[in-house]
Amino acid sequence: MIWPNWPWRDTTMPADSPAKSIPFRIAIDGPAGSGKSTVARAVAEALGMTYVDTGAMYRAVGLRVSRLPEGANWGGEAEACDIAFRPAHGGQRVILDGEDITEAIRAPEISDWSSRVSEDPAVRAAMTRRQKETGSRESVVMEGRDIGTVVLPDAPLKVFLTASEDERARRRLRDLELRGRKATLEEVRREIRERDQRDSTRDAAPLRKADDAVEVNTDGMTIDEVVGRILALARERGARG
Ligand code: DC
Repeated sequence: MIWPNWPWRDTTMPADSPAKSIPFRIAIDGPAGSGKSTVARAVAEALGMTYVDTGAMYRAVGLRVSRLPEGANWGGEAEACDIAFRPAHGGQRVILDGEDITEAIRAPEISDWSSRVSEDPAVRAAMTRRQKETGSRESVVMEGRDIGTVVLPDAPLKVFLTASEDERARRRLRDLELRGRKATLEEVRREIRERDQRDSTRDAAPLRKADDAVEVNTDGMTIDEVVGRILALARERGARG
């Protein structure tokens, strides 16, 4: 089934909110198009936690270096840049050094750049440091490729989302179409396959299911079913909300 875009709402809470006083962390990992963003956003909203899209951070670095001459120091760029998530009506905006890059980072060439820069250990170190810091400060639902294995290895709940390549390609194509971009199913399938291959075979923090992660295959499940499953697991493990 092809999932519609989950309605985005502001999940930002006052810093003194009770749900934020004892940080609870949920790590969601999985390959491209597995539904991580949609599901993580909905789970964060239901539990009143902060949603962190770590893929958007690698995309921001990818966009930044794509604009530089060849030979740029990617790790240095990743350290130096300012990446912020700003709540906005109808969605969270991604801001790089003051520029709204929310739409720009979804272009297929930036997907490719993001996967390339994410192979660089210096880029990963810079992003991981920021992500760990956020996870130690507030309750988060953080999604990516290495959240359960590297960024939040002590998270009380880790989920590894999967879906067949066909289904993931169909979801990604629909995402692109909703953003007004044109592509064929075959192009999207090829892009996903190449990225998955690179993301799961790189040396630095490859995409991998943490040993203690719960694997959820979302083929044939609705968004509500997947979200409900994760919320039940989170509450079992002590999440409030
Ligand atoms: O989730 P996404 O498609 O927006 O991620 C873009 C790229 O960023 C992905 O191909 C691999 C990389 N990434 C990563 O290496 N580690 C993460 N935690 C998140 C994303």
